[in-house]
Amino acid sequence: MTGFDLTIIGLGYVGMPLAKEATAAGLRVAGLDVDPRKVDALNAGRSYIDDLTDADLDAMISGGFTATLDASVLAQSHTIVICVPTPLDEDHRPDLSAVEGATRTVAEHLQRGTLVVLESTTWPGTTDEVARPILEKSGLVAGVDFHLAFSPERIDPGNAKFGLRNTPKVVGGYTSACKDRASAFYGQFVERVVPVSGTREAEMAKLLENTYRHVNIALVNEMAIFCDELGVNLWESIEAASTKPFGFQKFLPGPGVGGHCIPVDPSYLSYTVRKLGYPFRFVELAQEINERMPSYVTTRVQRLLNQARKPVNGSSVLLLGVTYKPDIADERETPAIPVAEALLELGAELSFCDPYVKEWSVNGAPIPREADLAEALAKADVTVLLQQHSVFDLDLIEERSNLVLDTRGVLTTSDRVERL
Ligand SMILES: NC(=O)c1ccc[n+]([C@@H]2O[C@H](COP(=O)([O-])OP(=O)(O)OC[C@H]3O[C@@H](n4cnc5c(N)ncnc54)[C@H](O)[C@@H]3O)[C@@H](O)[C@H]2O)c1
Repeated sequence: MTGFDLTIIGLGYVGMPLAKEATAAGLRVAGLDVDPRKVDALNAGRSYIDDLTDADLDAMISGGFTATLDASVLAQSHTIVICVPTPLDEDHRPDLSAVEGATRTVAEHLQRGTLVVLESTTWPGTTDEVARPILEKSGLVAGVDFHLAFSPERIDPGNAKFGLRNTPKVVGGYTSACKDRASAFYGQFVERVVPVSGTREAEMAKLLENTYRHVNIALVNEMAIFCDELGVNLWESIEAASTKPFGFQKFLPGPGVGGHCIPVDPSYLSYTVRKLGYPFRFVELAQEINERMPSYVTTRVQRLLNQARKPVNGSSVLLLGVTYKPDIADERETPAIPVAEALLELGAELSFCDPYVKEWSVNGAPIPREADLAEALAKADVTVLLQQHSVFDLDLIEERSNLVLDTRGVLTTSDRVERL
C-alpha cells in the first residue's frame, strides 16, 4: 500500500501531539479534520495548540505531515487513529456524535489490513459496541479483515516533563492480534506500551485515572470548606501529610474543576453504571462538591468585602487567571465562568487579568481586560487569584491588593490576604 503510515482524525489537543511524535519517528502522517480553519492554519504552519510551536509544525510539514478535509486519505492509510471530541450533551449524557461521525467516515473508506484505533475518552464498551458495528458496515470484519483497538490518550497540556513519548501508553485490542498490531504501532514512538487484554479494560483504565483525580480533588475541596469553619489551615495539613513517602498523593483545593477531562470523563463512567440500575455514588458526590466550589468562592469574596464594610454590589472585583490550568490558554470548562456569573449576579463590577487570554466574555457580556497588573490590583476592591500562572508576581499581588482571596494557596496570608 502506498500513501500514509498514519491518518489522524481530529487535529486537536490530542491529535496534534500524536502527529508530531509520529512524524518525528519517520512515519508519513496525514491529519483529517472537518474544520477548514484548522486545516488551513496547520498547512500554513500556524499552530493553535499550546504544546505545539510553529517551529514544531514547520518541522512536521518538512517531514511530510499534511492536514486535509478530504477523507479519501483514509483509503491510503495503514493505520487510522480517531481523536475526536467526546463531550456531554445538554442532559449531561455522553455525546458520541463526533466518534460516530468519524467512524462512519472511516467505514466508507476502510481497506483490508488497516489498523483502526479509537483514542477519544469514552465509556467502556464503546469500541466494541459503537465503533465496531459502524466499521463492519464496510463489509469487512474486525479482527479478521482489519484490526481494531482502543488506546486512551493521557496528554497533559502544558506539562513540560511528560509528553506522549515518555508517558506509558495503554493499548487494548478487539482480539489478541489487534492488541499486538496496535502495540507495535505505538512502540515506534512511545517508550513504553502497556497492553491490556481487551478494549473495555483500556477504556476503563482512562476513566479510572480521571475519576480518581476528580474524587480526590472533591475530598480536599470539601475539607477546605469545613477546615475554614474549624479554623484549621488545610494547606499546611496537606503539605504535612504529603511528607509521607507512601500511601498518600497530594491534591489541592481550588475554585472548581475545569478542562475537557476531569469535569466530563467521570460522567461517562457514571452513565455506564446507571445502565446497571444503580448510581456510581463516588462520582456523583464528587461532582456535587466540585460543582459547588465556584459558589463557595463567591461566598468567600462576599465575606471578605463584608469585613471591609463593602457590598459585592458595585464593588470592583479583579479575577486573576481565567484558564482552567496554569500557564496555558485553554479555557474549556474553566471554573472562572461560574465564579464570574455568580459575582455578576450579585452586581460586582468585574475585570480580569490573564496573559494567555486576550478577550473574555461571560454569557455574551465582554469582561474588561486589565493589561497592567500593578494598576489593576490597586484599583480593585478585591482580587481573586483563580489561576496561578507562573508569570504572576506573587509579591506584587500581596503588596498592591486591597483584599485578596487566594484560591490556590500560594500567597502569604495576612489581614488583607485570605486563602480558600
Ligand atoms: N485535551 C486533553 O487534554 C485530553 C487528554 C486526554 C484525552 N482527551 C480526549 O481526547 C479526545 C479529543 O480531545 P481533544 O482535546 O483533542 O479535542 P479538540 O476539540 O481539541 O479536537 C478535536 C478535533 O476533532 C475535530 N472533529 C470533530 N468531529 C470530527 C469528525 N467527525 N471528523 C474529523 N474531525 C472531527 C474537531 O474539529 C477538532 O479539531 C476527547 O475524547 C478527549 O476526552 C483529551
